[in-house]
Amino acid sequence: MDFYVMTLFPQMILQAASFSILDRAQKQGRISVHGVDIREYSHNKHRHVDDAPYGGGAGMVMQAPPVYEAYEAICRKVGARPRVAYMTPAGETFTQKKARELAREENLVLLCGHYEGIDQRVIDEIVTDEISIGDYVLTGGELPALVVIDAVARMIDGVLGNEESAGEESFSGMLLEYPQYTRPADFRGRKVPEILMGGNHEEVRLWRLERAMETTMEKRPDLLRPEGMSREERGIYERLREKFLEKSLASKGHL
Ligand code: ADE
Repeated sequence: MDFYVMTLFPQMILQAASFSILDRAQKQGRISVHGVDIREYSHNKHRHVDDAPYGGGAGMVMQAPPVYEAYEAICRKVGARPRVAYMTPAGETFTQKKARELAREENLVLLCGHYEGIDQRVIDEIVTDEISIGDYVLTGGELPALVVIDAVARMIDGVLGNEESAGEESFSGMLLEYPQYTRPADFRGRKVPEILMGGNHEEVRLWRLERAMETTMEKRPDLLRPEGMSREERGIYERLREKFLEKSLASKGHL
C-alpha cells in the first residue's frame, strides 16, 4: 500500500516512518510512505502557499491551487484518483474499524493542514474522508497522519511478523492487552504470577484471556460485546461480572 502525505513538512513524516516496523515494512516493499511537499506547487516566487483569510481575522489560510495541484500530480503518478483523508479535529474519530477499512486501499492520500486551515473549496473538491484522532487541537495534521499510517499499516498482511500478530477485534469486541512479564522473576518483591512459570500452555491461555477481559471490563467496558462471545469467553465474562457486582455492592456497604 502506498501512503501519500500532502504536507508542508514532508521530513517530519519520512523521519518518523523510518523506524521500527514501518521501516521494515517499507524495506520489504509492503508499504511506501511518500512525502508530497505542497510548497513544490506554490505559484509564488517566495514559495508561499498561504494567504490572509477573506473576511478578515487572525492567521493565514492554505491556498486551494497548490493543494489541488499536489493531488493532481499524485493522481497522474498512480493512474487513479485515490481517497483523500483530511486530518482535522472536525473529522470522524479514528477507530480500529476505520484503520481496517483504509488498509484495503491500494493508495491513500493524507492531507495535513497548518495555519488556520485550508481553503474550503479544495476540501470540497478532493477530500473523501475527514479524520480526527481525538478531541484536542494540534498545530498541524502531521502527527495525526502518522497515527493513521501506523494503525493502517499494521492491518496490512505481512507488516507484523508472526511474533507480533495484530490483536484481532472479533465478534466479542476488542479486548485490551493482558499484562506481560519478563525476567527478573522478582522485582522489588513483586512476583510474576505462578501460572506463567508453570509451562502449561492451556492454563496460560485461559489466564491471559481472563486478565484481558478483566482489564477491559474495568477500564473500557464499552469495548465488550457479550452477545458475540464464544461459550468459553461468555463463561469467563459472566464469572467476572459477578465478581465485579459483589465488589461494588460490598464497597457500597450492601454486603
Ligand atoms: N489537526 C489538528 N488537530 C487534529 C486532531 N485532533 N485530529 C486530526 N487532525 C488534527
